[in-house]
Amino acid sequence: MEKRATIVGSGHYLPPKVVTNNDLAAMFPTSDEWITQRTGIRERRFIEESPTGASDLALPAAKMAIEQAGRDIKDVDAIIFATLSPDINFPGSGCFLGHKLGLPGVPALDIRNQCSGFIYGLSVADAWIRSGMYRNVLVCGAEVHSTGLDFSERGRDVAVLFGDGAGVALVGEATGDSKGICALELHADGSGAEDLCLLAPMSRNIPRLTQEMFDEGLHYPRMNGRQVFRWATQKMPEVAMSVLAKAGLTIDDIDLFVPHQANMRINQMVAGKLGIADEKVVHNIQRYGNTTAATIPIGISESWREGKLGPGSKVLTVAFGAGFTWAGGVIEF
Ligand SMILES: CC(C)(COP(=O)(O)OP(=O)(O)OC[C@H]1O[C@@H](n2cnc3c(N)ncnc32)[C@H](O)[C@@H]1OP(=O)(O)O)[C@@H](O)C(=O)NCCC(=O)NCCS
Repeated sequence: MEKRATIVGSGHYLPPKVVTNNDLAAMFPTSDEWITQRTGIRERRFIEESPTGASDLALPAAKMAIEQAGRDIKDVDAIIFATLSPDINFPGSGCFLGHKLGLPGVPALDIRNQCSGFIYGLSVADAWIRSGMYRNVLVCGAEVHSTGLDFSERGRDVAVLFGDGAGVALVGEATGDSKGICALELHADGSGAEDLCLLAPMSRNIPRLTQEMFDEGLHYPRMNGRQVFRWATQKMPEVAMSVLAKAGLTIDDIDLFVPHQANMRINQMVAGKLGIADEKVVHNIQRYGNTTAATIPIGISESWREGKLGPGSKVLTVAFGAGFTWAGGVIEF
């Protein structure tokens, strides 16, 4: 019989330090009211001490996912690591994580698809498992944003949005009646690449980093917020409907919707366009802000533990982010 892949375990880890909107307002001109009204974010988590990389946040989340699946660390035969904030520029965080897990020789693939990174990673794991190449693939999303934000008036539109965290799924073979990963869809359009990006250091420039770039703040992320908002609220519903059709399902069949969390208003607009009831929609933006590649696996892991998903649940997930990239998936647990 044809192999099918599914999420067999999930885990998440958030650093304990809570940073409220008022904490940010003490650093640069902003307010709890502005942030809450425009984004829905009330607080986020930041790492507290150096060195703490994305791989350090992913480590406890990975162990949690492996344990939930009833597997052993040694059963992991491949690692996929989605992040836009790797521990260092190279090598990738997947190599660091594999070493920390004690998995010498196990392949580690880092991917650079920002907020869509987890679904892109899931698609690779799905193909590996269905082809028989690997049996237990860790798909990680982890970010340390807090060390790279511009905490001044210049960067306040971006700095208030992001938080640190990690989410991991262990992807293995689906057994029994569960269909597992039913459909996945991936997209990119580089015409929006510089609407949300971090430019420096840039290898296309001689030298990669100049004093002028530094003074201009090109080593901080920059964003055309309105453009991102427009694209996100168009592409997320579009890919949701398309991936549902591929899975042969309608929105009424879905038990839980896990959208990427960039802004509460985006979540609400997307859910509204899809006509899905709010009680089926996962929102964690209030507590964690945008954790980029970590957002969706954190949402899955928390929902699983809260009993919002279990055997037989049909989950729809969609993401939109820098690139632009966007993606969707339907998973039957
Ligand atoms: C970022 C976002 C919340 C900004 O909301 P907006 O309504 O577009 O606000 P604008 O950027 O037009 O700014 C409006 C005003 O608020 C100010 N402002 C920006 N950031 C601020 C902050 N943190 N605190 C207070 N004021 C702020 C601006 O300077 C501007 O002031 P002005 O009118 O005097 O010029 C919104 O565009 C958004 O959520 N975009 C999508 C972001 C996203 O999804 N990013 C990640 C993709 S994965």
